[in-house]
Amino acid sequence: MTLLITNIGELTTNDPELGVLTGAAVVVDGDRVAWVGPLGAAPAADERLDAGGAAVIPGFVDSHAHLVFAGDRAGEFAARMNGEPYTGGGIRTTVAATRAADDATLLAAARRLVTEARRQGTTTIEIKSGYGLTVAEEVRSLRIAGQLTSETTFLGAHVVPAEYAGDPDGYVRLVSGPMLAAAAPHAKWVDVFCDRGAFDGDQTRAILTAGAAAGLGLRVHANQLGPGPGVRLAVELGAASADHCTHLTDADVAALAGSDTVATLLPGAEFSTRSPYPDARRLLDAGVTVALATDCNPGSSYTSSMPFCLALAVREMRMTPAEALWAATAGGARALRRDDVGVLRPGARADLAVLDAPSYLHLAYRPGVPLITTVLHSGVPQ
Ligand code: NIG
Ligand code: FE
Repeated sequence: MTLLITNIGELTTNDPELGVLTGAAVVVDGDRVAWVGPLGAAPAADERLDAGGAAVIPGFVDSHAHLVFAGDRAGEFAARMNGEPYTGGGIRTTVAATRAADDATLLAAARRLVTEARRQGTTTIEIKSGYGLTVAEEVRSLRIAGQLTSETTFLGAHVVPAEYAGDPDGYVRLVSGPMLAAAAPHAKWVDVFCDRGAFDGDQTRAILTAGAAAGLGLRVHANQLGPGPGVRLAVELGAASADHCTHLTDADVAALAGSDTVATLLPGAEFSTRSPYPDARRLLDAGVTVALATDCNPGSSYTSSMPFCLALAVREMRMTPAEALWAATAGGARALRRDDVGVLRPGARADLAVLDAPSYLHLAYRPGVPLITTVLHSGVPQ
């Protein structure tokens, strides 16, 4: 079955650069893009979708989300808005709630968030474990994540669980040994929260090295709460992405600039923890590849909305609307080392969003407005 999307007022392809076309059309064949070009030259197709002069963008690629959990931490959020700092300590609250929930409850809650994200234009989403923190619980979280995405990440090293409080290195041995062995068949990536109150440089290196030996790609929660070794380790070990990047030295920026490691910025976390935003301009001006993602989780960033994060990036991090859209689509694809998403060209996945707006500029210009009208995911209207 072929589908012609006609009468697209403004089409962003990300091929090459932002690749903005006016008066364009797209032909979809099954789950792939078959043709992109000017409206007048469009080939015939079995069916037709009239975009009515609206803007069309590649579906968002949310390369960082924690969706397998139970409960929420609204009270912790309220306390923070009253002046309490964010420390990551609340992760253990979610671990207790997650362990107490049955599989069906966890799957339904995660599916609800994926659906919520999709309604806002997200067509690829990465999902981490990290609220189980035992061998069985981490495997359970990854199995649930695997029912919703192929981008699954083992985050056994999210925080040291209460039962290992007196023996953090014993927990690191568990994570990099039996837990990793059990998790690896269900995960594409391994991630470590390398920060104060979580895992230090040596512990992070041990877990990432073991993860790479088990065949997993690497990602790192790096330099969120303070300066530290996370970003440089990510670059040294060839991680696909260093995420957060809020507290960077010049050496961190230079290391990222000379590498294939994407800096994934998560402005929802700074918004929800009332913290200073990462310096996106410094990274972009140094030539670092930047992605934007939601970090959707119940503690530090309970939003599934890529348009919200994009608007924050423009208003609060001085990214241009063009840089922010690229980072939220093609940038996310780079952070997941994918070349079939985040771009609209023949052969790519037919993942796109139609906006109730004449231009992608409205994503930041009209914050908080539900502008996504139609989403195609693998060619299927959602
Ligand atoms: O990416 N930083 C570590 N993990 C999450 C927060 C998780 C939580 O607070 O539950 C993050 O911000
Ligand atoms: Fe995170």
